[in-house]
Amino acid sequence: MRARLRVCVLISGSGSNLQALIDARDEGRIDIDIVGVISNQADARGLERASRAGIPASIVEHQDFAHRNKFDRALGLLIGAGKPHWVILAGFMRIVGSAVLDPFKGRLINLHPSLLPLYRGTDTYQRVLDAGDREHGASIHFVTGELDGGPVISQVRLPVLAGDDKHKLAARLAPMEHRLLVSTIEFFTQHRVEYSGAEVLVDENSLEHPLLLQADDRLV
Ligand code: GRF
Repeated sequence: MRARLRVCVLISGSGSNLQALIDARDEGRIDIDIVGVISNQADARGLERASRAGIPASIVEHQDFAHRNKFDRALGLLIGAGKPHWVILAGFMRIVGSAVLDPFKGRLINLHPSLLPLYRGTDTYQRVLDAGDREHGASIHFVTGELDGGPVISQVRLPVLAGDDKHKLAARLAPMEHRLLVSTIEFFTQHRVEYSGAEVLVDENSLEHPLLLQADDRLV
């Protein structure tokens, strides 16, 4: 039997996606050990969620470092201390540099609230509304040096409704992101996803289109 998957979760805020992983773990839906939670914000609510769940949590604030690469090195060391198989950026609002990217290449993913490659960066909900798009969604992608630019593994789509504002859209997307994250991590626990640095392989086949979350939480 293979070892349980060790994951480290990086957060900056509420940590509702972290909570979704904790709940799925506690309910036996995914076989993971959350070996650490790291926040770049001392007041992130997700830190309380980690401590309630008995998960070791650390804070690393970029203001404490004179240079970006010193922050990255400290972050890389903290992540590495838990010996994670996968590193999940779940609402982590900092760009990570090579001291994090290099040691965790192909094992570092980010959750982003848009149907990438559309709308990299922030404020995606308002930008979707301003453009008059009929759908929005979320993506999980491998992290590379390019902001929200690495290859996409999985997505969830949701229709934009008449009368939507960015808050309504965000509120409807949040639970879908949680489901997307849990289902994607479940794929990882089954060792079905690999990234060589060139292409994403799912079940050893090159992934042509992102996996799409279905109503029953399957990824197809
Ligand atoms: C999510 O919407 C995620 O897509 C974005 O930040 C949010 C994190 O929410 N990158 P939470 O901290 O997990 O509640």
